[in-house]
Amino acid sequence: MSDTPPAAAWSGRFEEPVDERVKRYTASVDFDRRLALYDIRGSLAHARMLSEVGVISALDLEQIEQGMAQIRSEIERGEFEWSLDAEDVHLNIERRLTALVGDAGKRLHTARSRNDQVATDVRLFLRDEIDAIIGLMDAMQRSIVDQAAQHADTLMPGFTHLQVAQPVTFGHHMLAYFEMFERDRSRLVDCRRRLDVLPLGSAALAGTSYPIRRERVAELLGFAGVSENSLDAVSDRDFAIEFCAVASIAMMHISRLSEELVLWMSPAFGFIRLPDRFCTGSSIMPQKKNPDVPELARGKTGRMYGDLMSLLTLMKGQPLAYNKDNQEDKEPLFDAVDTLTDTLAIFASMLAGLTVNAPRMLQALRQGHATATDLADWLVKRGMPFRDAHEAVARAVRAADQHGCELAALPAEVLREFAGDAYAEIQAVLQAAGSAASRDLRGGTAPAQVRAQVARADSIIAARLAGVSRLIRPSAPLR
Ligand code: ARG
Repeated sequence: MSDTPPAAAWSGRFEEPVDERVKRYTASVDFDRRLALYDIRGSLAHARMLSEVGVISALDLEQIEQGMAQIRSEIERGEFEWSLDAEDVHLNIERRLTALVGDAGKRLHTARSRNDQVATDVRLFLRDEIDAIIGLMDAMQRSIVDQAAQHADTLMPGFTHLQVAQPVTFGHHMLAYFEMFERDRSRLVDCRRRLDVLPLGSAALAGTSYPIRRERVAELLGFAGVSENSLDAVSDRDFAIEFCAVASIAMMHISRLSEELVLWMSPAFGFIRLPDRFCTGSSIMPQKKNPDVPELARGKTGRMYGDLMSLLTLMKGQPLAYNKDNQEDKEPLFDAVDTLTDTLAIFASMLAGLTVNAPRMLQALRQGHATATDLADWLVKRGMPFRDAHEAVARAVRAADQHGCELAALPAEVLREFAGDAYAEIQAVLQAAGSAASRDLRGGTAPAQVRAQVARADSIIAARLAGVSRLIRPSAPLR
């Protein structure tokens, strides 16, 4: 390239060069070059269509294709010279194309504007990223279901208000997260379906007078349809907002799980261990093993909400149609994509490696009269009104506290005061395993139900494997 930078693509009517600070302020190439391979894909489809309808010649197309092939390989080899003078990814590539193939390069932008071009690039980018994210979500769900299968019978305290409430199984607890991520996954699929629409052909804002074939470009780029209003298409960023909203909800779920992992891993609980490769030590306290990954995921959730807020706020004051504000959509969107992608990938393998300390869970379960409800239920089934039963069991709990023991460990003579000769039966009712097993209804914590839910989840995941490989594009471009 020459030493004096070429004038900007739009500089024809300007009387002085742009202030250096303004150039830096308005340029986006430092971050939007991430879209480069999508930009090339979009341009190739546009050029092919232009030649098919006779707006450019077959020779122009051939030269554009050759030039783009070279540019693509320069980018992939890291040899492309990105320049701030060319402002953004689109003008950088167009300028290089023109340097390589001359007039054919200058004809590429016929019947197109950077406004519909960038909207197309971002949709192509996000569609691929969502496909990859769905794959990672599946992998994480797989790890969760495997843990549930392994721990369908493992008893732990279920909590409300973080107080021991009732016995549950660890498998049941894990499957609660399977359900949350199942909803997140379906939101991702939904978001992908809505964004799968081609904006190209909207041009700057009003459409174009050239006889272009938008459906053909959509077909070449694999879009399910074309946008129906040019003003909307160049200015709409709903799909990016929607992705950040979906990603925020998913991160909120990951953050809740993280909070539990942090608690469970603390010596006070001692319920689980995370593999050492997912933990870090302290530089001052040699005994420490810190759950940095879940803590960071919890922290990054706040950052993800920030991305969502940035985009919502970015859009709220914009009149139709395109405004330069929209250039600010990329960094929050990229950040949201990267944060979710990295988090899911790490969690998929971290959760697979999680190990459970079942004796500690059982011990914790024995410290909160966790089967008090079972005793009340037993009394009700023998004809006592529930409120009276509640009262009677509360007295039994007080008695246990006075004896300094668990309800389940009350001596026979004390139990006899509450239940007469039925006390032996009560002792069985007060066992945690019996309590969990008795909640044998759909959605309940009984091991039999957990196993049924694991089987259901297995078949959902298995049915999906075929579907997912269909979703993921073979030509997913590089970052
Ligand atoms: N870099 C711009 C963006 O990201 C591309 C579109 C520019 N359009 C314009 N009319 N200045 O939004």
